Amino acid sequence: MTTITVTGPRPSTITVGRGLGFAPIVSALDAAATRVLIIHARPLASRAHALADHLRGLGYAASLADHPDAEAGKTIEVVSSLWDRCGDLQLGRKDAIIALGGGATTDMAGFVAATWLRGITLINVPTTLLGMVDAAVGGKTGINTSVGKNLVGSFYPASAVVADMDLLATLPRADLAAGAAEVIKCGFIADPTILTVVEETEPEALLDPGGAELREITARAIAVKARVVSADLMEGGLREILNYGHTLAHAIERANDYGWRHGDAVAVGCCFAARLARSRGLLTDADVARHDALFSRLGLPTRYEGTDLGRLRTIMASDKKVRRGVLRFVLLHGIANPRTETVEPSELVDAAQAIGIPS
Ligand code: GLY
Repeated sequence: MTTITVTGPRPSTITVGRGLGFAPIVSALDAAATRVLIIHARPLASRAHALADHLRGLGYAASLADHPDAEAGKTIEVVSSLWDRCGDLQLGRKDAIIALGGGATTDMAGFVAATWLRGITLINVPTTLLGMVDAAVGGKTGINTSVGKNLVGSFYPASAVVADMDLLATLPRADLAAGAAEVIKCGFIADPTILTVVEETEPEALLDPGGAELREITARAIAVKARVVSADLMEGGLREILNYGHTLAHAIERANDYGWRHGDAVAVGCCFAARLARSRGLLTDADVARHDALFSRLGLPTRYEGTDLGRLRTIMASDKKVRRGVLRFVLLHGIANPRTETVEPSELVDAAQAIGIPS
């Protein structure tokens, strides 16, 4: 078991391991808590019921609320019905919300916890690899609205995140690989040991949730994120490095009406950003080849042919990192040395061609 701490104005304790059970969840509850609302995605009902029974056995009044799966759960209507539930249950300041599910669950339930009584205890129990290494950690909570995804929300870190690798046992391989894309991203921006572990482990073994290697690189990726958000919770600057590969990734996701897995798009986006850095002399050809090799080793895409560059550029121009119409990318000045830089539209052309994007 590994324990990682996020410091700063709202500290968080993240536990990573196997067979963690419910103990780390219970110990994260406030001593004065009496009521708990478990918000969970529908397929996780039996796990949620088991947790509720456990908490009731300890004397807590534990209630359950499910929500529509994935992005359909991240709506103001769902949040509003959960605020009503919080009221019916008389959840007080010392009580808690436990979010059990993937990134959509922790984003949305986190927003409920952030806003109910202006903030009550939040405990995240991510059930996807992507959730463990990204959404559940670092306090970005939010919902989607008619004007866009994640535009309404707050920075509200969970008091505790319990990342139990056993919960990944039934996750489809493609979802594990997509989560691993964010892990590899963390390797490129801050922890090259992650890259070495991926290179030296057979892909089947690496994506085995019961394996020591996946546990190690998951803990390492979480530690990277924890270090970054400890220094810059509110995304004043440093936190942007977590968006390595994301400028193009978000454009690919939008161009495909979010039909692409986020991690798949991030893999392509990192390969693209590596080429932008190469053409500025910041990375070597070997570094670029290493990007392609690492992602493709896990069956992740490294090329994208589905949308022309003009359309992708228009979408990227609405990226949140764009300032005064200037495109900004996280670029590596060598492995594990990321910086956010402005990029001229003309610089995109060669990098796009290299990964198959039509001009
Ligand atoms: N997913 C990027 C961040 O949490 O800042």
